[in-house]
Amino acid sequence: MSQVSEIALAESAELLAYESLEDEVLTERIQRIRRQMGSKLLILGHHYQQDAVIALSDLRGDSYKLSELAASNTECRAIVFCGVHFMAETADVLANRPQRLAERGGERVPVVLPDLAAGCSMADMAEIEQVEDCWEQLAEVIDVDDVMPVTYVNSAASLKAFCGRHGGIVCTSANARPVLEWSFARRRRVLFFPDQHLGRNTALRMGVPIEEMPVWDPHVEELGGSSEDAIRSSRVILWKGHCSVHQMFLPQHVEGFRERYPGIKIMVHPECMQAVVDLADEIGSTGAIIKAVEAAPPGTKWAVGTELHLVNRLKQDHPEQEIHFLSSTVCMCATMYRIDLPHLCWSLEKLAAGRPVNVVQVDDETAADALKALERMLEVK
Ligand code: 13P
Ligand code: SF4
Repeated sequence: MSQVSEIALAESAELLAYESLEDEVLTERIQRIRRQMGSKLLILGHHYQQDAVIALSDLRGDSYKLSELAASNTECRAIVFCGVHFMAETADVLANRPQRLAERGGERVPVVLPDLAAGCSMADMAEIEQVEDCWEQLAEVIDVDDVMPVTYVNSAASLKAFCGRHGGIVCTSANARPVLEWSFARRRRVLFFPDQHLGRNTALRMGVPIEEMPVWDPHVEELGGSSEDAIRSSRVILWKGHCSVHQMFLPQHVEGFRERYPGIKIMVHPECMQAVVDLADEIGSTGAIIKAVEAAPPGTKWAVGTELHLVNRLKQDHPEQEIHFLSSTVCMCATMYRIDLPHLCWSLEKLAAGRPVNVVQVDDETAADALKALERMLEVK
């Protein structure tokens, strides 16, 4: 047996032992590590995390806020990221950028993802080779110096690095519009990947006509399935990617709620399809959704189209309002859900013992280029 498989086997045996423990025991052990490590440890939690995990996070947020937190913290010496892989990569790039490394005398902050299988299916829909091939094909039809590559933060570090190398930028669901405005102030067109819905929903609200947004399908060999004319007259070229969780929300769900609950407000995440977003009263990132509910008067009725754990938490936190989940089926992010108390406790105890597991580290060259695109994003207000 190879050394790698031996380690994997030993780790799964260890995890099995944690999985047999009661939640109270795991919580107490996690709290013990938090007390022991104090401000040297930063546990970040995305809003889609399970309640038990979010309760043990030091700070929670949407992707934008979590990036800012990882970028600005100067005290911590380890980050445990309760979220998905691209978030941990982003935190690694920002927390270990040259300026921070110099301040710490070269010491890296390890970023731990408690379960390495916590990925994002949307991020997996754009691979660096596909994006490079797209860029080369575009260059045969249009001047790519006039195309701004914009990657949604839900993407591998290699794609962020591609943007960094080509003068491009990263966006999140919280700042997609200012990022597109920044892009159009510099170049005529945008190549937006991997989420077609965020790109389309944002550009439509900026007045870009739908006819000027061809979709690039990386699985179609020639021009991603578009014609040369469509590429020449494009303003935003949309990558054919989507979130499997948010695509479950349908226009009939919106219509059904409006019929059954007159006056209800429909609020959705911009990863939902255009037909749903067009019908909604409010659109926003997970952070914006929370803020809108917090600001609403008692008695407000909402149907919210985003991941189930966040909507259920909103229901619990705001009993003075009537909050519904927009879909009739369960829309849960299975990969976010992989982070649970056993994985959190195991990874924390390993970290505290000086033998960190599941450390997400972006290689130096990729990190340097990805940082350029991330820094541009953090500068856009
Ligand atoms: P937010 O940036 O709005 O938190 O969204 C992240 C995400 O993955 C949504 O599916
Ligand atoms: Fe990715 Fe969708 Fe899960 Fe967000 S909800 S992490 S976009 S799969």
